[in-house]
Amino acid sequence: MEQQEAITVDDIRDLVRPHQVHRRAYADPEVFQLEMERIFGRMWIYLAHESQLRKPGAFFRTRLAGTEVLVTRHTDGEVYVLHNRCPHRGARMCMVDRGNSRLLNCPYHAWSFRPDGTLSTVPHKQSYPESFDMEAPENQMQRVRNVESYRGFIFATLNETPVPLTEQLGEMTDIIDNLLARAPEGEVEISESYFTLEYKGNWKLHLENAADIFHPTFVHSSSVGAAKRAPQNASRLDSDQTRTMLEANGFGIDQWEGIRLNGLPNGHSYMSNFYSKGVLVDQTEDPVMTEYKKRMVAAYGEEKAADILSVDRFNNIIYPNMILNAQHQQMRITIPLAHDRTLIRVQCFRLKGAPDEMFERAIRFLSTLASPASMIFSDDVEMLERCQAGLDRDDTPWLDFSRGLDIDRTDETGSVSGVASEMPMRVQFKAWVEMMTQEVA
Ligand code: FES
Ligand SMILES: [Fe+2]
Repeated sequence: MEQQEAITVDDIRDLVRPHQVHRRAYADPEVFQLEMERIFGRMWIYLAHESQLRKPGAFFRTRLAGTEVLVTRHTDGEVYVLHNRCPHRGARMCMVDRGNSRLLNCPYHAWSFRPDGTLSTVPHKQSYPESFDMEAPENQMQRVRNVESYRGFIFATLNETPVPLTEQLGEMTDIIDNLLARAPEGEVEISESYFTLEYKGNWKLHLENAADIFHPTFVHSSSVGAAKRAPQNASRLDSDQTRTMLEANGFGIDQWEGIRLNGLPNGHSYMSNFYSKGVLVDQTEDPVMTEYKKRMVAAYGEEKAADILSVDRFNNIIYPNMILNAQHQQMRITIPLAHDRTLIRVQCFRLKGAPDEMFERAIRFLSTLASPASMIFSDDVEMLERCQAGLDRDDTPWLDFSRGLDIDRTDETGSVSGVASEMPMRVQFKAWVEMMTQEVA
């Protein structure tokens, strides 16, 4: 908490102008510390999906604000979020990302805990004084009190008096609903395995990149060019999906002016009109899609199935840490580690009741566009690291976010814009300032 004295609310306000942001927002460890307290420590943060925690004893290791946590399923069926820290002497307990264990054992002196964090056994109990109380609160793993699930997506917050989760998510619940509705059985499972990638840059750079439709033409020109030069069916192993996905990333004026950007309260945003403008691949006419649509119609009826599939929203940014692409059954999670280090987790979903090939296709999309070895995301990461390297120097302190500023419109849902506007980044910074300047938790 000392940091709060060092940087004032006025300092924070001064970092963001209508069209500019000061480099200190990305390059100052004190600002980062405050973000962990006031954004990642007060907002609801997505941690895990319930399908990762089917059986009692299942756990998943991730981060909440500046702390490592374990999301667990207890024998009573409840989900708990525990600080990954032993109450005995503070040792970090679990070092694996996921697993299933009846008890969580500390590697130091072997205290063991149930999945709800309560102390189960201590070795050589007779050597402890009589006053040692196995049930005393200080001898239990510390729980995060506020944990909630929105339709299987588990969020938690360190805020003792949070707003309701659905209030924070606002209209972004629609896209989670849409992802589930795309499953003929109305349910999704998250892939057991996933990609992680760490880059040397601030967490906000990743969210800005996901909202930036101006850059693909330039940053991704090498893979777009290679795909354009390659003959049809060049990626024969996957019915040409990789080639067409790469090629479709070649944005031009039509996309810049045609894709609609939508900015919402609380820092959320998404792009629409992606498919109607022919961006990326819309595999409407192949046998897999035909079978999938048949199952959707059987489950929901013609009209409702068409409604579900017509939702055309790309890169749904659920501020501050989640990017969801329902059409591609894909999600990216942003996990800040330091002001200049960020972890990205890339995962995809299986739509229950859909043909297996739909899941294979989602993995293909994820590998082509967002894996660490992808010809696309690796180019993005190069840019994020170059930005951070530049931001760590003091010579040009102000960054420009003015693109589209005079063209954005506001309607009852929020801001809308075309022309590859930087409006979504301005929306992110609006929420950033609101959160960062709230002094009382
Ligand atoms: S630090 Fe965990 S048992 Fe001692
Ligand atoms: Fe990109």
